[in-house]
Amino acid sequence: MSEKKLFIPVLLGTPRKHRESGHVARWLLGKIEERGGEIETQLFDVRDFNLPPDDYGMEIKDDFPEWRDAMTRADGLVIVTPEYNHGYPGTLKSVLDLLLPEYIHKAVAFAAVSAQVWGGVRVIEALVQTSRELGFAVTFTDLNFPRVQTLFDDDGKLLDEKAYESRTKAFLDELVWMSKTLRWGRENLPSKFHSSQK
Ligand SMILES: Cc1cc2nc3c(=O)[nH]c(=O)nc-3n(C[C@H](O)[C@H](O)[C@H](O)COP(=O)(O)O)c2cc1C
Repeated sequence: MSEKKLFIPVLLGTPRKHRESGHVARWLLGKIEERGGEIETQLFDVRDFNLPPDDYGMEIKDDFPEWRDAMTRADGLVIVTPEYNHGYPGTLKSVLDLLLPEYIHKAVAFAAVSAQVWGGVRVIEALVQTSRELGFAVTFTDLNFPRVQTLFDDDGKLLDEKAYESRTKAFLDELVWMSKTLRWGRENLPSKFHSSQK
């Protein structure tokens, strides 16, 4: 199996001004970087996509070359999303809908953020359906951040690292396993879906 580093970007899924999800995304980016040479990562923020008011979807993907090229090269994706009325932010859907072949048979893992006690379990259920149609292979070890407003200080420091230690390891272990396995499959098993891939 190829020992090449995995490339797994993190997508921060809400543009909201006072978003708490930003703390989660940056913290998780740090955790991925702590894995050392195993994974290369990069933060994408839906706020940075200058989405047009009068167009949508794959036809405009070349207007977002950094995202397009990153997901072409990527082995997986981490989506950090808040739960908004049991669903995901519309901006996140608009960004995901820019691509499709680039996602096929790549791993996706979810970190969900909520103000209430459920930790975004319902937004993950909603994202699973959409992710499948986009061609992703979903992991089943999620990260949940319930009552997120109590979890971080103003500088984005997670107050109780210990509480997230084993879950985060399990989350990343599964994501790495899935990403490596799927990369091996894309590189070694012919499929009509992978012709445009690396
Ligand atoms: C439009 C909207 C809908 C929301 N719906 C829910 C919800 O269904 N369940 C929940 O636990 N919190 C809900 N919240 C609160 C968010 O979970 C809360 O803002 C949390 O901090 C995560 O989102 P953030 O990254 O925007 O801060 C909602 C917030 C907004 C702005």
